[in-house]
Amino acid sequence: MVESAPRAFVCGHPIRHSRSPLIHGFWLRELDLAGSYEAVDVQQKNFAGFVSELGIRGWAGGNVTLPHKEQAFSLVARRDAAAEAIGAVNTLWFENDQLIGGNTDAYGFAANLDAGARAWRDAETAVVLGAGGAARAVIHALQDAGIADIHVVNRTRERATELADLFGEGIRAHGSPELTDLLKSCHLLVNTTSLGMSGQPPLEIHLDPLPEGAVVTDIVYAPLETPLLEAARGRGLAAVDGLGMLLYQAVPGFERWFGTRPQVTAALREHIVADLEAAT
Ligand code: ATR
Repeated sequence: MVESAPRAFVCGHPIRHSRSPLIHGFWLRELDLAGSYEAVDVQQKNFAGFVSELGIRGWAGGNVTLPHKEQAFSLVARRDAAAEAIGAVNTLWFENDQLIGGNTDAYGFAANLDAGARAWRDAETAVVLGAGGAARAVIHALQDAGIADIHVVNRTRERATELADLFGEGIRAHGSPELTDLLKSCHLLVNTTSLGMSGQPPLEIHLDPLPEGAVVTDIVYAPLETPLLEAARGRGLAAVDGLGMLLYQAVPGFERWFGTRPQVTAALREHIVADLEAAT
């Protein structure tokens, strides 16, 4: 029997803004592998049907993005530990004909910081801004890295409390007015809100209270240099942009579908940056 080249997808709604086809297409060409990766627009009402037919339609698996990550969680036969902790699935693949769901966002977050500011792993206290889906992945990564003291600060305090209850020991919830005080002992500051993104209001925050040696990172990558990162660099602090999280989170899925672990290189980054610049 001739094995056909693996086909993988990213599905969401809308999907045309997704950079995942660019990332995986770059790796397929660079590694000279037979295979394809395409964007598929799937409306919410059609998602369960799409997932149930993956095998018979010949997909090796794929990525799941908004608004399907929670539904994917409930549709798979089994989930990896990260997906279980985060409550959402962003990567699908088959094992022994069973559909498995994983979440690679926490891995992507940690790998990006490892590459950009390794000192983050020494942080004892972290402050996470925001309490949405992205915050869940970040909190899981911080817990996994052994950061003992994690403060979640959110406009809507109740959502921060929900996350603190969910993730348990070491997580504390706060409303925005508490932020300035928290920054005084914060070694790692993470923005997971959409504030600072092109077209969104800026994140209003003064970084003066942060201690020397603090690391600041933003999951926003459009613009690459958000006002938050600019302010951090202005204070001489290590600042890591969010594009690397997008690039690194793609690594485990590519390896599952196409059998080779790809590298996040400067050339890949330049390829995606060129696309981001063309879009502005
Ligand atoms: P995601 O899944 O991408 O994390 P989300 O669930 O919509 O997205 O969460 C967005 C986060 O950005 C939330 O923490 C939200 O705060 P609320 O829970 O109070 O809505 C935060 N956010 C969005 N716009 C904001 C704004 N203008 N001011 C403060 N926080 C904002």
